[in-house]
Amino acid sequence: MSNRMWGGRFASGPAEIMEEINASIGFDKKLAPQDIRGSLAHVAMLGEAGILPKDDVAAIQAGLKTVESEIERGEFVFDRALEDIHMAVESRLTQIVGPSAGRLHTARSRNDQVATDMRLWVRDTLDSLDSQAADLQRALAQTALKHAGTVMPGFTHLQSAQPVTFGHHCLAYVEMLGRDRGRFRDARARLNECPLGAAALAGTSFPIDRHATAAALGFDRPTANSLDSVADRDFALESLSSASICAIHLSRLAEELVVWTSAQFNFVKLSDGYTTGSSIMPQKRNPDAAELIRAKSGRIIGALTGLLIVMKGLPLAYSKDMQEDKEGTFDALQSLSLCLAAMTGMVRDLQPVADVMKRAAGSGYATATDLADWLVRELGMPFREAHHVTGRLVGLASGQGIGLEELTLPAMQEVEPRLTDAIYDVLGVENSVKSRTSYGGTSPVNVKAQAERWLAALDA
Ligand code: ARG
Repeated sequence: MSNRMWGGRFASGPAEIMEEINASIGFDKKLAPQDIRGSLAHVAMLGEAGILPKDDVAAIQAGLKTVESEIERGEFVFDRALEDIHMAVESRLTQIVGPSAGRLHTARSRNDQVATDMRLWVRDTLDSLDSQAADLQRALAQTALKHAGTVMPGFTHLQSAQPVTFGHHCLAYVEMLGRDRGRFRDARARLNECPLGAAALAGTSFPIDRHATAAALGFDRPTANSLDSVADRDFALESLSSASICAIHLSRLAEELVVWTSAQFNFVKLSDGYTTGSSIMPQKRNPDAAELIRAKSGRIIGALTGLLIVMKGLPLAYSKDMQEDKEGTFDALQSLSLCLAAMTGMVRDLQPVADVMKRAAGSGYATATDLADWLVRELGMPFREAHHVTGRLVGLASGQGIGLEELTLPAMQEVEPRLTDAIYDVLGVENSVKSRTSYGGTSPVNVKAQAERWLAALDA
């Protein structure tokens, strides 16, 4: 049998394999709520514009509500022969309402319909990602406030660099997430134009009111060019790109948690709720959630690159290639949502091991810069010379296998006679972090102020 929705000029139906490759119902059924919302707005507008008789409008609206509740109750049968969610809904509507259901598709096409549905879905999802990212920021800022003075090593090249505070490290991620949220909101603002009424590609000869449907669906305005309306997937690409950047931020934090929870580092403890055991090694507490967050960034970035490649060679306007936007977009944005939720739980529960971190902060000659700064400040030495003198002191200490603070004053004075006892103050990690009071620096006073600023902003 030829297709009920478009089979007029076909003598027979599609080959089995054609049906299989063509159908999107298996994944676009997720768009049912958006599809019905779009149809309700469209049919109301058709009524208002006098394009459809009021009684048809009322019957179609009632029928759409019935379809909606059938879907909600899980009674709806998603039939692959109907290809996609748009035809599945309309086909069921026809069974309920009769032939007048066919009037719903006046002045519209599946091309503008699917673009509208996807924009609605992505828009809702961006909103919830934004609020989930805010939850994670809150958890990190609370941890930062609690640990504004908890000293840990700061790294460059994953080598001990200078002591920082754990709170400062947490707030670095709060900043990243702040930019991620800005990108979600930018993407949302740009996507918020309504393609409905662009019809197949050229617009329509019916006197439709696109401003009315746009407003009814919460869009700022209708899209301005009918070709662009049905050919564009920027909104998905931009959302996936924002999601990818957020995912790599989560992945970097996840990587740090994996490293820090190892016995060799032992900087933090994850709660039982966010670790797993091993079936053979009884001592194990594996950071699986962190590892999976790190890994899922791969599929999120994959969805972005996948869709970029789908789109790059497509002539205007719609091509069926664009049906491939869905699975990747759904999967990537849902994966990010899961990652944000898991990371928030992990951060809320985690406990830094303060004494281990502090000891590690002092190892690796991490206060060498403080010593050099002292030579500049107290002796008026040019920084380059101070760097050289300090380097010789580090060499001396490391030759003896001891820390800088363990060198005796006479031993240090052989390198620089003007050194005094006061030098031992700057070699302590607490004093080191306290001294970093420049704006944005790691001093506990700064960290506390920044954490409080963020918490207030997040509550506003
Ligand atoms: N399932 C299709 C998609 O997701 C809907 C649009 C189909 N349009 C068409 N002209 N065949 O892209």
